[in-house]
Amino acid sequence: MNREQIAELEKRVLIPTYDRLPLLAVRGEGCYLYGENGKKYLDFLGGLAVNSLGYAHPEIMAALRDQAETILHVSNLIYHPYQAPLAEKLTRLSGLDRAFFASTGTEAIEGAMKLARAYARLHTPVEPSERYEILALENSFHGRTLGALSATWPKKYREPFQPLVPGVRFVRRNDTVHLRESFTPRVAAVLLEVIQGEGGVVEIREDFLKAAQELCHAHGALLICDEIQCGLGRTGRFFAYSKFGLKPDVVVVAKPLAAGLPLAAILAREEVAQAFSPGLHGTTFGGGPLQCRLALKVLEIFERPGFLAHVREVGAYFRAQLEGLRSEFPVVREVRGDGLMVAMELAAPGKGVVRQALEAGVLVNCTQENVLRFLPPLIIESRHVDELVRVLRPILAALVPATATKRENP
Ligand SMILES: Cc1ncc(COP(=O)(O)O)c(C=O)c1O
Repeated sequence: MNREQIAELEKRVLIPTYDRLPLLAVRGEGCYLYGENGKKYLDFLGGLAVNSLGYAHPEIMAALRDQAETILHVSNLIYHPYQAPLAEKLTRLSGLDRAFFASTGTEAIEGAMKLARAYARLHTPVEPSERYEILALENSFHGRTLGALSATWPKKYREPFQPLVPGVRFVRRNDTVHLRESFTPRVAAVLLEVIQGEGGVVEIREDFLKAAQELCHAHGALLICDEIQCGLGRTGRFFAYSKFGLKPDVVVVAKPLAAGLPLAAILAREEVAQAFSPGLHGTTFGGGPLQCRLALKVLEIFERPGFLAHVREVGAYFRAQLEGLRSEFPVVREVRGDGLMVAMELAAPGKGVVRQALEAGVLVNCTQENVLRFLPPLIIESRHVDELVRVLRPILAALVPATATKRENP
């Protein structure tokens, strides 16, 4: 079937949750995807921050083939050789003590929210059943299941499904006064992304993050860092929060962990982890042997000398090139980001830019309607950045700034 036929079939048989780009992916290699008829696309989307080692990485493929011939799944009722070493590695890298493996970011956020409630029941100055609130940030994104969705800011995602899980309150991003005012003995946790991804690649200010940590400590609440998009090497550090010297109680990672297979982890401090006991939480697929083995390989590659330094270097080059475009074209409002989590905010809708870039052979993403977001494989080089800039220049040159619009909460 060709792309048109597949699109036609999907239109009839899929629940319509996605508006796909006109690209049928056939194979991938390195930083490139190949569509029908062999057309090549430079990938600055990276499977939404998942394909950090690009496509068909030889060491990942070798581990995958070997494990596929050995064992795929065993359940969490018995041991396999890879889960504990992976937990050991992730806890060493994060400075936390224990891990629980889930399949998706959202599932791990749900688990972290449950963990916060379980911990609050054991350590609470108020009636145990009254300490369950979670403070999340405006512009946050934590996932689509009912719990994670309750902590996700855009109204358009939340409202159709109300009533959601009670007890989540939103704090204005970077407003330390509002954060302080929102803190009551009922707060069990603060849940935040150090760099808000879906929110437009917006870094939270250091003073706000530090205040959140201090308030959590003072009240015995947990600081939960959602590192699903910004973590695991994306910023050129294993964890984005380490830039600010934060010591979260719980960290959630997912996207690139198993090189494209679904795997997520909740990492927690010892005392917090002890709030779960056998039977209180679980999952069928999380932490299977195939995923864990690939994740061990992914982290081994990330730990090699020079790997994360490369992310920082090429990221700095990337932002400098985009700044060049900003000084050339007034339609570019701002360039932001850290490492290879980069955004270009436009004074015009970004959807058309995404389509035109695709036509020209580059895959990019748009979030918040006017923010081009770049989450390329961490193995890109400056020549790939140059290729993107060559494609973007004529598109931006032809783009007309729209009259300013202020979004409250879409
Ligand atoms: C910061 C953040 N949290 C949670 C999620 C949800 O993760 P998943 O789609 O793997 O369930 C995402 C996905 O984009 C994310 O970016």
